Amino acid sequence: TTVHLKDYTPFGFTIDSVELTFRLAPSATRVISRIAFRPNPETGDRRFFLHGEGLTLVRATIDGDEVTPEIVDGGLTCPVPDAPFTWESEVEIDPAANTALEGLYLSNGMYCTQCEAEGFRKITYYPDRPDVMATFTVRIESDLPVLLSNGNPGDRGETWAEWHDPWPKPAYLFALVAGDLVAHADRFTTCSGREVALNLWVRPGDEDKCAFGMEALKTSMTWDEQVYGREYDLDVFNIVAVDDFNMGAMENKGLNIFNSSAVLASPETSTDANFERIEAIIAHEYFHNWTGNRITCRDWFQLCLKEGLTVFRDAQFTADMRSAPVKRITDVIDLRARQFPEDNGPLAHPVRPESFQEINNFYTATVYEKGAEVIGMLKRLVGDEAYAEALELYFARHDGQACTIEDWLKVFEDVTGRDLGQFKRWYSQAGTPRLTVRDYWTDGTYTLSFTQVTPPSAASPDPQPQVIPVDVGLLGPNGDEVRPTETLEMTGATQSFRFEGLAARPVPSILRGFSAPVILDRDSSDSERAFLLAHDTDPFNRWEAGRMLAAETLIAMAAGDAAPGSDYLDGMLAVLRDDTLDPAYRALMLALPGQSELAGTMADRGITPDPDAIWSAAEALRLALAQKAQDVLPRLAEDMRVDAPYRADADQAGKRALAGAVLGLVTRLDGGIAAAAQYAAADNMTLQLSALGCLLNAGKGKAELAAFRDQWGHDRLVMDKWFGLQVMQAAPADAADAARQLTEDADFNWKNPNRFRAVLGALAGNHGGFHHAGGAGYALLADWLVRLDPVNPQTTARMCSAFQTWRRYDADRQALIRAQLDRIAARPSLSRDTSEMVTRILSA
Ligand code: ARG
Ligand code: ZN
Repeated sequence: TTVHLKDYTPFGFTIDSVELTFRLAPSATRVISRIAFRPNPETGDRRFFLHGEGLTLVRATIDGDEVTPEIVDGGLTCPVPDAPFTWESEVEIDPAANTALEGLYLSNGMYCTQCEAEGFRKITYYPDRPDVMATFTVRIESDLPVLLSNGNPGDRGETWAEWHDPWPKPAYLFALVAGDLVAHADRFTTCSGREVALNLWVRPGDEDKCAFGMEALKTSMTWDEQVYGREYDLDVFNIVAVDDFNMGAMENKGLNIFNSSAVLASPETSTDANFERIEAIIAHEYFHNWTGNRITCRDWFQLCLKEGLTVFRDAQFTADMRSAPVKRITDVIDLRARQFPEDNGPLAHPVRPESFQEINNFYTATVYEKGAEVIGMLKRLVGDEAYAEALELYFARHDGQACTIEDWLKVFEDVTGRDLGQFKRWYSQAGTPRLTVRDYWTDGTYTLSFTQVTPPSAASPDPQPQVIPVDVGLLGPNGDEVRPTETLEMTGATQSFRFEGLAARPVPSILRGFSAPVILDRDSSDSERAFLLAHDTDPFNRWEAGRMLAAETLIAMAAGDAAPGSDYLDGMLAVLRDDTLDPAYRALMLALPGQSELAGTMADRGITPDPDAIWSAAEALRLALAQKAQDVLPRLAEDMRVDAPYRADADQAGKRALAGAVLGLVTRLDGGIAAAAQYAAADNMTLQLSALGCLLNAGKGKAELAAFRDQWGHDRLVMDKWFGLQVMQAAPADAADAARQLTEDADFNWKNPNRFRAVLGALAGNHGGFHHAGGAGYALLADWLVRLDPVNPQTTARMCSAFQTWRRYDADRQALIRAQLDRIAARPSLSRDTSEMVTRILSA
């Protein structure tokens, strides 16, 4: 069944309070609920429907009298009084059998929950919808030493604990944890003087991986006070690390639950990239306390209300903590890698979708990352001051409410007096706008003429022009900036902007800072790109110029051109030599565009991409760059060596990133001598893993791979890297086989989402390998999706998106992929999650 935004109606009852008792037992947990309902004055609808899935109802009463509810598909109904009443029920559930990791489940003997989006209905009968908010009191009965739930701690006995959350919340923010855990404890004093006890709960043995996450939490709390005026509102803030988790982390009120990969870190076991990701996810979940929890979503169509805003906030935080240009560039790389294919393929949907079958399938790059881009555009259009005022108004007006995108846009309209009717299309239309630019020069006047076209999709068959903020600066012929950045506000399908009083025809720098999530199409030349790479004052566009040079030369090489472009090679050599540039930024400059991204660009131009040719072109270009730069590489490697003790900060990480890029080039020249030496000497995971990656890429590293396993076999998170790296670094012809062999490894625990993704996710991410002729990669992934679906539908469905780009490729590959999709679709009792994904991917 499909749910539609337009069918929203409020629930017939409000809830005064919820009391829950949990008698924990692995296969027979009892959940007793006592819920005080009253008729909702906002509606006359008095149908009493409670969601429930996989529950065994033991008894139910209304105001103390036994009732016999009618158990229906997805829940129960029952006649109720037309006045306030108390509902009580007792159900039995089986956490040990819960492999879907949604609801209450066991992970290594520890009880934990995941309720967003609709997991609470697997715990007890309840109106499991985000617009029903209530205060929760929870009692947990168990022999386990640590018993946690939301809110503030209450009374505690030998075998039980009580918790009370004073803040009304929807059921999706409920959480419970019980296990043998140890705390890394700290404290935080809020701006108004509230003392907050902070705890990061982990399994014994992981204590030494907590310090960084805790620091990140405190920094996030301070940042949200200073930048958004948001203060924490409970006496405790608990974070728990669990090994079995479908996503990154979850913002349950006062009790965040994290995939252990998104919180546990130490220099020996985690890379710089891991540290940065952990810092961002801790911030993200913490920021949800206001954008998500205090102000939540009316219904799941409004998911971007909390996710787009919270991603935008965590990006601002990372930009403040680290390098703003580097953060912007990595976000755009990610957007193009994950969101553009979604927006331009069969899974396209608006930032605020209008229908779904399974909401878990809409926790997407479009809702999250494009949702954040939309907020960035809004801020650019109204200005920083108006943005800050609008946010103040949002928090003041909507605290304690379940809101919509209309509520969100209204605060901006009220603060600025702007009509955001057209801007709202960013929320309602799917597809990435193509922005074509032409320029004209006459007598000192320079004109930029833009045309926007959004390709129609099933979700948006007739897209209308959107408001596009285009940041533009102009450079003079000698490289000076003759016009600083200005935001051009495009609203029409075509629109021209004039710049007057210029002495000479300028070189335009368009879409600075990637001011809108569009595809910019400009007939430009390599020499103009080289000019911008050398002179642009906007760090994003400077990087973009190098990126475009790389893309153009790779596309030409993949089409049969033997020689790499000299503008690209010369430009990169200058970058390698320019010590005034931030190392992290230089490392980004040296990275080639992703091969899947290139395939997408080619398909956009009407060229059928050949994955093998793209892979070979990338290999050849890296070799050519290594040869070109061989004289500067040793000095650069030396300069980027970090002798100080390891710190996970942006400075050191930037040096290691550039050193890693240099090692990649050096390995192409020395066959792995330097990499083997680095591996042997490495005292942190960043250096160890970058060395191992280079060795594997060069077809070496057998001994190191074995040594790595000996060293780290006991550490799941490190072993995920061991599994993943072998598949990522495999050559196209070997990748599927490498992945298959790893699935036969005794440590391939496929029911653990991290381990499953380490192997099969890495295969899907190895463009040349996944798409290698013959289709072994497709078949292997499909085999495992079919196997995982009955066990864990959410993770299965998510990974189906590996096939979303299938129509880009040649007829043979399309036929091979279609056969696998058909095979998955034909499985009896396929989950709703996977069936929706496969159906959409197959649709025209
Ligand atoms: N709200 C979480 C976050 O973005 C994501 C949890 C989504 N989980 C899910 N099963 N759909 O931080
Ligand atoms: Zn989130």
